[in-house]
Amino acid sequence: FPHFEYQQNALYVESVPLETIASKFGTPCYVYSRAALITTYQAFEQAFADDDFLICYAVKANSNLAILNLLVRLGSGFDIVSGGELQRVIKAGGDPQKIVFSGVGKQADEMRMALATDILCFNVESAAELQLLNQIAAAMNKVAPVSLRVNPDVDAKTHPYISTGLKENKFGIPLEEAEQIYFSADQFPHIRFTGLDCHIGSQLTELDPFTQAGEKLVSLLQRLKSGNQQITHLDLGGGLGIRYSTETPPSIQTYVNALRKTLGTNKVRLLIEPGRSLVGNAGLLLTRTIYLKHTPDRHFAIVDAAMNDLMRPSLYNAYHEILPVLKRNGDLCNYQVVGPVCETGDFLGHDRKFSLEAADLLAVMSAGAYGTSMSSNYNTRPRAAEVMVDGDTVHLIRARETIDQLTASETILPA
Ligand code: LLP
Repeated sequence: FPHFEYQQNALYVESVPLETIASKFGTPCYVYSRAALITTYQAFEQAFADDDFLICYAVKANSNLAILNLLVRLGSGFDIVSGGELQRVIKAGGDPQKIVFSGVGKQADEMRMALATDILCFNVESAAELQLLNQIAAAMNKVAPVSLRVNPDVDAKTHPYISTGLKENKFGIPLEEAEQIYFSADQFPHIRFTGLDCHIGSQLTELDPFTQAGEKLVSLLQRLKSGNQQITHLDLGGGLGIRYSTETPPSIQTYVNALRKTLGTNKVRLLIEPGRSLVGNAGLLLTRTIYLKHTPDRHFAIVDAAMNDLMRPSLYNAYHEILPVLKRNGDLCNYQVVGPVCETGDFLGHDRKFSLEAADLLAVMSAGAYGTSMSSNYNTRPRAAEVMVDGDTVHLIRARETIDQLTASETILPA
């Protein structure tokens, strides 16, 4: 993990020891590296070289304003899936002309907000949605730019919960139906078809599914173009995997090259919607051991972070590397790393070997994506603080929640 490295026996983020962060900001705490984020963004940018492209960061992966704002400064666009995400991007200074709006269940007020903001494109996922968007645009005297999200029916070969491009999934429109809709454009006077889109799943570690989907879309693109459709962009979604343990996903350059290759000589702008691959390995979850508990069967490291902070292990049985913040020389013990939440499924890692003492800090790695953004207040646990390290400086980018904030919008019945 570049930018997350040991110096002597202590784990650092850039030039700051994690120990220092824990004493200043407390735990659990999400810690991001500005350099890691910037380097990864630039790797995408450089991979596209002189092509006409737009990187639309998938906000759902991590929607902290500081992260969005750093990406704004780098020139990034955004893929949003709700009115809330739209407001975040605008707050962070994002350019509406770099925003695409995905999602199967966009509601009327979200469509209005996005039309009023003049976003780049709506990624429409059904005929019913297209009809509503047409009506709403008509009422606002506007024309909505649209890309249909095609379901290319390819197997992303990833966890079933995060696979989206199979015909049995709720996402996208079957290819043949999408083609018909494009050619019935005259029924939708307040829609302008400007793009074509797909997203087949997340945490893909092979290129093949991307190429298969890309080829299906490009052949549709060619039919649309020869049918005189003014399609100006192709959006190939997100999904590039990262290394959590032993995975070997393609490099950013290899991935981008493969996408460019499927496009061939077709002159359209290429959009991608990376989430995890941009922020996943730019963050970790810092947690402190509360108790070490040894039973005849097992050894538990009970830590102060839990499934409400990082849901991925509980939800997908996902593996996150867990590193000791201080490497000790003692004997290794096989730990179950678990949180304080009252669920057997509340674990961060099984069978991890460390030499630990009570109150030791642990770093749950690769937690930059789908960590805080999926966190909850289960067990009335305030959400963790978030900090961003920049060289030797640490910025608090989200204060730890207070219990008062948690109950602020609740009311008891009158007597
Ligand atoms: N575009 C669309 C339309 C998406 O639905 C997603 C993710 C992305 C882009 C970004 O995909 P990425 O590059 O991050 O793979 N909570 C799960 C991941 C769910 C992904 C949902 N869609 C996890 O923690 O693994």
